[in-house]
Amino acid sequence: MSRIAVTGGAGRLGRTLVAGLAQAGHELISLDRAVSDAPELAGIAQIPVDLTDADAAAGAISDARADALIHLAAIAVPFSAPEDVILHTNAALALNVLSAGAGAGVPKIVTASSPTVLGYGAPRGWLPDRFPLDEETVPRPWNAYALSKHLAEQTIAMLARQTGDATRFAAFRPCYVIAPEEWDGAPTQQGHTVRERLADPALSAPALFNYVDARDVATFVDTLLEALPDIPNAEVFFVAADDALARRPLAELLPQFVPGTDALAAGLTGTAPAFSNAKARRVLGWRPAHSWRGEFGEGGEAGGRGETGERDGRGETGEHHEHGDLSRSSGGRSGTTRTDPDLTTPRKDVLA
Ligand SMILES: NC(=O)c1ccc[n+]([C@@H]2O[C@H](COP(=O)([O-])OP(=O)(O)OC[C@H]3O[C@@H](n4cnc5c(N)ncnc54)[C@H](O)[C@@H]3O)[C@@H](O)[C@H]2O)c1
Repeated sequence: MSRIAVTGGAGRLGRTLVAGLAQAGHELISLDRAVSDAPELAGIAQIPVDLTDADAAAGAISDARADALIHLAAIAVPFSAPEDVILHTNAALALNVLSAGAGAGVPKIVTASSPTVLGYGAPRGWLPDRFPLDEETVPRPWNAYALSKHLAEQTIAMLARQTGDATRFAAFRPCYVIAPEEWDGAPTQQGHTVRERLADPALSAPALFNYVDARDVATFVDTLLEALPDIPNAEVFFVAADDALARRPLAELLPQFVPGTDALAAGLTGTAPAFSNAKARRVLGWRPAHSWRGEFGEGGEAGGRGETGERDGRGETGEHHEHGDLSRSSGGRSGTTRTDPDLTTPRKDVLA
């Protein structure tokens, strides 16, 4: 068992992450400006703190006496605040929190980044070298949110150069996070439901049809923390579902929404996603247990609960996963959370 401090623990992803790690046997502390009465956080220590205040951040993180620090706190939606506010806020949060963790001697430090660092959706066009996108794809952020996430990744790399391997760092890029209650119809980050995203490809296209269940992010972080001493320092990982959040193959859909991808996306047949989670599988042995087909009981041949369909042509079959362990009981229904309105107004055509 570890003592784990999570910044942003009251947020959309934070609640499920905190609950999942607690259920896995760890002791959790949430450091967040907001205090949440969500059921997932019942019994969890919540320390209210504005982490843009460097002294307050350093004090709270030192007082937490944690074995591991997970940094989620951020303005999490592109264009939900002025560009300078997003950049200043997220950069300050990353520097304050991550350097406070290193200064306090926390041995394991992980930050949330975002797939948006890659730069898809850029107004003047964007084309990758190839699909599926992975950790080798060159980041080309085009807005302040994506830039701030690139900066967070660079912050852990910088700190690793300062501390050496005494502190173990990593960054992860969760795809569009689906919290457990969102499978049942609660609005997702961009305001519409998962079923609406599936029914209208234009809603999911800005994220290139990516997604991940928040409970799978929890198992990813648990696995990552365990592995950190044994893998290279300051690695970056995509955390993605095995399939695309789409009813039709991306080989067909992507060219409709990302001009010029006809040939590049030709290999994304069946249920194959645009983002690969192969590195997390290879380096950590992690794999997601949830899929939209499993959640909606649309298993068929390509994705009953935990099945992967034709991802990367491997057609691996996942373990049968019933609700339980890190499932809806840990994700639960959200209670109310006090947050600033400027952090909760989504722009419909971009996403984290
Ligand atoms: N949700 C997604 O789809 C997604 C995708 C990729 C990356 N991410 C990243 O994951 C992390 C969590 O995202 P989320 O969807 O849970 O966001 P969220 O907005 O629901 O939660 C963010 C939390 O950070 C807290 N916070 C913000 N400013 C703070 C401050 N100054 N001091 C203390 N706490 C502060 C907020 O109160 C909130 O609880 C973010 O870093 C986000 O960029 C999210």
